Amino acid sequence: MRITFAASEGVPFSKTGGLADVVGSLPKAVAAAGHEVEVLLPRYRMTKPGKLLPNCRSITLPLANGFHFASIQDGGVADGVHTYLVECPEFFDRDQLYMDKGQDYPDNPLRFAAFSLACLEFLKRSANPPDVIHCHDWQTALVPIYLRNLYSGDPFFEKSSVVFTIHNLGYQGLFPPHILPHIGLHAGLFTIDGLEFYGKVNLLKGGILFSDFVTTVSRKYAEEIQTPEFGYGLEGVLRSRADRLQGILNGVDYDAWNPTSDRLIPANYSPEDLKGKEACKKGLLEKMGVVQPVLDRPVIGIVSRFATQKGFDLIAGVVEELMAMDLYIVALGTGEPEYEDLFRSLTAKYPDKFLVKVAYDNTLAHLIEAGADMFLMPSRYEPCGLNQIYSLKYGTVPVVRATGGLDDTIEPFNGKTGTGFKFADYTPEALLAVTRKAVEYYRQPKAWRTLMLNGMKKDFSWPSSAKQYVKVYQAASRARTKIKSAASASNA
Ligand code: ADP
Ligand code: GLC
Repeated sequence: MRITFAASEGVPFSKTGGLADVVGSLPKAVAAAGHEVEVLLPRYRMTKPGKLLPNCRSITLPLANGFHFASIQDGGVADGVHTYLVECPEFFDRDQLYMDKGQDYPDNPLRFAAFSLACLEFLKRSANPPDVIHCHDWQTALVPIYLRNLYSGDPFFEKSSVVFTIHNLGYQGLFPPHILPHIGLHAGLFTIDGLEFYGKVNLLKGGILFSDFVTTVSRKYAEEIQTPEFGYGLEGVLRSRADRLQGILNGVDYDAWNPTSDRLIPANYSPEDLKGKEACKKGLLEKMGVVQPVLDRPVIGIVSRFATQKGFDLIAGVVEELMAMDLYIVALGTGEPEYEDLFRSLTAKYPDKFLVKVAYDNTLAHLIEAGADMFLMPSRYEPCGLNQIYSLKYGTVPVVRATGGLDDTIEPFNGKTGTGFKFADYTPEALLAVTRKAVEYYRQPKAWRTLMLNGMKKDFSWPSSAKQYVKVYQAASRARTKIKSAASASNA
């Protein structure tokens, strides 16, 4: 099959979070399974430019506020995956991907409308249509929306099906109805069975409705989003597509995240020889400015977008009790000003034990994975979560809330089996209790070593999840063929 990925970020071209890790690694696994795979991404300021494709020097994007123009750059081939970059400086040559100073760029709908349209126009210039277009999150939801509306009569795309993956239902692409003509869509789509959602346009809803198959990034999250607690108002729409909705757990790229080969950490280590981990711990504490690191004190690591989703308000509720325990917390993140301020205030109050860097820093992210003893993810909800999976490989024991992918990937430790610690109730007390339990085990070196090794042996690499995606691509293609034959029968 020819599979085209369209996404708003992907490693190594651009990244704000886990979506980029997935878009940087799943396509390789699909290519390794024998398919022809390409990835389409915007060319941001942070993205190294590619080579201009001669037949795509100027793609016209007729959006209602006028004509916009994009070109396509060849981003090169790596591990069997060809990447193409949509160059459109007026929309993508900016400091950040989606927002600045905590505020979304006001022209986001237009930016991702331009990207989605450019993807389809680029595909139309190739010799063969893709069998499947695999879109991700609201930023590319316009691909299926355009395909089934603006391009519905276009014979080129007749056989192309769309798989849509929801990485996070908390971001839906909600805009006022007057944007519809600006993004090239007619007002007739603003109905309860279309893009309308409590008086707004909901692009994610359109992605769900107009795709042939919908997936999300863990089995548990696929169940959760069909309930009012996690569905963010879309639970009914998702339930209506339950026969075409599947949770497929994200895999991870162990070429990039592996303590045996990681070049971003001071010492490598493996399950057979853990010595290097202590050097990483020392390096981490020194890097965070601790003058005389106490090495037998546990370090709890955090690397995260600072967002309400991630549950850090729970820490604030029990910080005194946590700091009274013999431990360090090392946190790295950026995001919502409210949480950046929270972390700054915590480090100001406990400068020797609560160590914080408010930044986006990939090298430090790797050092925290390697140097910490535990990794904390107290998320309110977590579609999959990648850092707990990386942590397992680094022998850094996850302490997580039992939700979504966190619940699917971490098994509670009972002294012998299990890989981490989980708590269920979203309360500061539950977080405190589970941290106490983890620290008690940390004080029992034999049990702790068993726990670390249990996690390090787990394999969350892509092949098995990629196989499930290939099955979904086949199911989506079958669904499209059925729709096509039904349509030609009714025309006959
Ligand atoms: P999400 O996609 O919701 O942010 P994930 O756990 O799926 O959560 O993925 C987060 C990814 O982003 C990981 O690769 C993590 O290391 C990275 N990351 C998050 N915040 C930072 C940061 N401040 N600096 C460096 N990397 C970060
Ligand atoms: C989202 C989710 C995260 C998931 C990532 C990649 O950003 O918040 O849980 O791991 O996408 O799928």
